[in-house]
Amino acid sequence: MTVARRTRRKDIFKELGLTPLWRARTEGHGEKAEAAVEPVPGSHVGAREDRRTRILRMGWDELKASVEGCVACPLFQSRTRTVFGIGDRNADWLYVGEGPGAQEDATGEPFVGQAGKLLDNMLAAIDLKRGQNVYIANIVKCRPPENRTPTSHEAHQCEPYLARQIELMKPKLIIALGKVAAENLLHTDASLGSLRGRLHQHSGIPVIVTYHPAYLLRTLPAKAKAWEDLCFARHTMQTLLHSEN
Ligand code: URA
Repeated sequence: MTVARRTRRKDIFKELGLTPLWRARTEGHGEKAEAAVEPVPGSHVGAREDRRTRILRMGWDELKASVEGCVACPLFQSRTRTVFGIGDRNADWLYVGEGPGAQEDATGEPFVGQAGKLLDNMLAAIDLKRGQNVYIANIVKCRPPENRTPTSHEAHQCEPYLARQIELMKPKLIIALGKVAAENLLHTDASLGSLRGRLHQHSGIPVIVTYHPAYLLRTLPAKAKAWEDLCFARHTMQTLLHSEN
């Protein structure tokens, strides 16, 4: 990034109240970082970091193939299909859910069940459409049995895949759908309620936290709050786009 672009980006983020910028652990995976994770022979940690480094160098096709063949956590044993993510790979908007459910496991596409229908409606409410300037992914790419919450080990093993998707896509805004997405993107265990309504960052990209559509299906009163979050997200995107011009 040139100095001028970096300064401009800093100004935009300042306007959004996002300074000072912090850098997430996923940044800086260039040559220096590769050198820093030289595997120690026989070291489990070295081997794991080496896997992450390899993933962070992949292009889209290799990344997808790697996910399809992934056996890095126990979820591969019970999956039918991996759920890589879907949509516009140059999207400004990235929506991140928790993990595939039964229908997603069967079809290989995220958010195709009831929660997915609601997500499509949430997108439509702010004039967005699945696949058009929107990408949808999950914290884990394989279905946790019985739709349980992914363990921290499962989320950790899957993290490099989403990190690489984010790096390749460079979305302008990330929407974390629900507590698991927020926890893993922001490395916090703060309540979802306390995370809503303000901007966070992941790898220097603004993040907005809202309710998971499955929660909204069970908790109708929360829909009004989700609408506030969507309006906040739309406004944030408008600010980001205007600041670029
Ligand atoms: N819930 C999620 O978090 N992700 C999906 O893909 C489907 C349901």
